[in-house]
Amino acid sequence: MAAPSDVQTAQSSASRTTKLAVVGAGAVGSTLAFAALTRGSARTIALLDVNRAKVDAEVLDLQHGLMFTSQAHVIGSDDVAVCEGADVVVVTAGAKQKPGQSRTDLAEATIGLMRKILPGLVDAAPDATYVMVTNPVDVVTYAALKISGLPRERLFGSGTVLDSSRLRVVLAERCGVAVGNVHAYIAGEHGDSEIALWSSASIGGVPLLDWEPVGGAKPIDAAVRAEVHHEVVDSAYRIIAGKGATNYAVGLAATRIIEAVLQDERRIMPVSSLLDDYYGIGDVCLSVPSLVDRRGVTDNVRVPMSDDELAGLRASAASVQAVQRRFGF
Ligand code: LAC
Repeated sequence: MAAPSDVQTAQSSASRTTKLAVVGAGAVGSTLAFAALTRGSARTIALLDVNRAKVDAEVLDLQHGLMFTSQAHVIGSDDVAVCEGADVVVVTAGAKQKPGQSRTDLAEATIGLMRKILPGLVDAAPDATYVMVTNPVDVVTYAALKISGLPRERLFGSGTVLDSSRLRVVLAERCGVAVGNVHAYIAGEHGDSEIALWSSASIGGVPLLDWEPVGGAKPIDAAVRAEVHHEVVDSAYRIIAGKGATNYAVGLAATRIIEAVLQDERRIMPVSSLLDDYYGIGDVCLSVPSLVDRRGVTDNVRVPMSDDELAGLRASAASVQAVQRRFGF
């Protein structure tokens, strides 16, 4: 039976000797490695973690599934040399968000970890594109750019790709349509100040704000939009309260970003990159729809925004910059 087209595409790209290095073999990193393996995203998947026993076990467990996936090599170590020659390095290592804790609460510990690991990673994989997933991802991305000295397009964060997926899933459910028919972005911080770009959202080509309910669904009026936004922002807190961490959707979101790089897709995704005069916003890493290809993030797309959306984006930028400055960036 032929593999679905996106897997076939991923497999064809993996026929080149592409190498993905995953830093951190915790819940997110191991799930991301599993997603990349099952989707055939890269020919070699390397896992790096300080806990040698853990990384060896994760690698063994992944290797035992190779009969069921496209051809790949899965390797791992506690030595950064395992990342040598990687085309993409994705960083998931960091403290776990505890129930009730905000992502920003993790900033101090995570920035300290980045100072420790990034120089060795860049030495091992100087030509790689770096995707930061570790939270608080916007501050971590900004700090990682400064620490690594990499060019701004070649290091970026997973940003609100996951949040935008959550928004699309919730809207699809509310409207009674397939997720693939919903196009909508969450922008700004991957966190409490993120905003929904309602004015550019669409369902099946119809602007969301003009959407006429079908199949007995309720109208997506202002009150429903506020509910949906709250549901998206609250998602991680709810999941962490119930199972201790989020891993599946963030693993899939990060894998999709990695494929856009490895397959040179020029895909527009709301990843977190260093903005420069984006509606006057600059010197902060924030998620806006951006072009992702082999080189990393090459362009930020100026999506039309309402006055409220622009005010929300500016407030989100200020919130992230305040944390940046608290840690000396
Ligand atoms: C979440 C984590 C990845 O939003 O921040 O699930």
